[in-house]
Amino acid sequence: MDLVKKINDLADLLLESGKTMVLTGAGISTESGIPDFRGPDGLWSKVDPMYVFHAETFIYRPEVFYEAGMPLMGPLQAAQPNAAHRVIADLEEAGLVWGVVTQNVDGLHQKAGSKNVFEMHGHLRSATCLKCRHVIPWDRLAEMVAAGEIPPRHQDCGGVFKPDAVFFGDPLPPDFYDCCREVSESDLLVVVGSSLEVSPVNYLPQLCKRLAIVNMGPTMADYRAVLKVDAKAGEAFTELKRVLQERGVRLSGSAV
Ligand code: APR
Repeated sequence: MDLVKKINDLADLLLESGKTMVLTGAGISTESGIPDFRGPDGLWSKVDPMYVFHAETFIYRPEVFYEAGMPLMGPLQAAQPNAAHRVIADLEEAGLVWGVVTQNVDGLHQKAGSKNVFEMHGHLRSATCLKCRHVIPWDRLAEMVAAGEIPPRHQDCGGVFKPDAVFFGDPLPPDFYDCCREVSESDLLVVVGSSLEVSPVNYLPQLCKRLAIVNMGPTMADYRAVLKVDAKAGEAFTELKRVLQERGVRLSGSAV
């Protein structure tokens, strides 16, 4: 089936749905220049994530993250949203999407204008002192690391600063449970750019009434999807915007 036919089917699903949630993963941001995790050039081919990004490693050897993990975070800060992020924001504004659950820490949904964003793996806007919970902006953390303060410590209490991203072994943010409720109350969940290999976020596709997936390559929930679009997210959402506009849906926001 060609892309246009599939995107028309996706438009039908969106227009029939009373409430739609979107779940995104690293694949939505590759077209913004950020590598995904499990692809051939993914981040995980460069470091051992279960060690470098593990909560326990951070407690006992925080320098491991600051030496091996932090340098990989730079491109995420500089990246800009692509067509898929922007169209999803437009769909929210038009009332066709209720909210976005993301596994990404890049903040690109907010940069694109999405308002209801649940960041399941945290973000890179700030860091928190593990001793007294004092919060500093990411730029300050980066400055300290660049100045050779590894691990960066809070001047007042001596506690180590940890980025406000969720590491392996960390609990998920409490709004994970809100997400479960929102998804189970939805008529449609659209997954974009995730292999759905990581739990518990990959539990969400089990909760929705209908599931559509836009992903290059297989995902763990393909068997449950009423529609699978195997295409680049940017192309798929650019086409979706065109199809919806052709059907008279008013989508404002940034041009794709
Ligand atoms: N358009 C659509 N799909 C894409 C694109 C693209 N432009 N680029 C890559 N993909 C697909 C890949 O083929 C892959 O199937 O996106 C998927 C990304 O999957 P992962 O790399 O596993 O990323 P994700 O599902 O977000 O990983 C979840 O794993 O290690 C943790 O915390 C990390 O949040 C991350 C979590």
